[in-house]
Amino acid sequence: MREILKISKLNKVYEGKVAYKALKNINLNIEEGEFVGIMGPSGSGKTTLLNIISTIDLPTSGEVIINGSNPHDLNNSELAMFRRKELGFVFQDFNLLDTLTIGENIILPLTLDKYPVKEMEKKLKEIVKKLGIEEILDKRTYEISGGQAQRAAIARAIINSPSLLLADEPTGNLDSKAAKDVMELFYNINVKEKVTTLMVTHDPYTASFCHRVIFIKDGELYNEIYRGNKRELFYQEIMDILSLLGGDKNDFTSIGF
Ligand SMILES: Nc1ncnc2c1ncn2[C@@H]1O[C@H](COP(=O)(O)OP(=O)(O)O)[C@@H](O)[C@H]1O
Ligand SMILES: [Mg+2]
Repeated sequence: MREILKISKLNKVYEGKVAYKALKNINLNIEEGEFVGIMGPSGSGKTTLLNIISTIDLPTSGEVIINGSNPHDLNNSELAMFRRKELGFVFQDFNLLDTLTIGENIILPLTLDKYPVKEMEKKLKEIVKKLGIEEILDKRTYEISGGQAQRAAIARAIINSPSLLLADEPTGNLDSKAAKDVMELFYNINVKEKVTTLMVTHDPYTASFCHRVIFIKDGELYNEIYRGNKRELFYQEIMDILSLLGGDKNDFTSIGF
């Protein structure tokens, strides 16, 4: 199997009055086609890790390789290209632009890459059909539900066929019905389109859709578990590890079950 993400000996220190070690010697590989979740109590370093992988932040030491290259070696314009080509992003608050229609939002990455209009329209048609959001293309962000907005954001994130899809709390702003729909969508695009996905979540129900869940505690890898056939069973295992992990109980209040 080909490795899409390879993290070796990653350390992150936030300098300040008192230096703070947010990540300690993280080693983590993700293979092509995997769907991996990252969990941990608040303050454990999840966002720091995702920001370094998504090239928003720099490691203090260690290496991150995405699809064979090290983005932290690139200059700014190369990095912008790299992000558009290799990475897709889905955020908790959708990050859709209010001034554009949903269709325009979805093709934004292609617009930035100066795709021919005909090709953009073809790609847009294909993707909205797959994601079941044909009827909202001409709408604006205030006319659609949170679940529809997240579907549109996922469409925008994968329209460029990125090698790695990154999601930070993608169900954080959704009710339980919409969260279930969005997670089934993540699951299906991973299985059918083979989109390699890495998702941070503190919600065990959301995490139970992954193949593998990695737990971090105090900036260190703590444990990882793989899902078998039954999602319900995996959910229970995730809950068990979370109770061992400790942290604030309210960190892990589930939206599901
Ligand atoms: N920019 C920053 N400067 C200093 N400390 C930070 C900064 N960002 C995060 N931290 C600290 O690093 C630790 C990990 O934070 P974070 O990655 O946001 O955790 P999580 O996403 O798991 O809640 C926390 O103790 C946090 O206070
Ligand atoms: Mg966080």
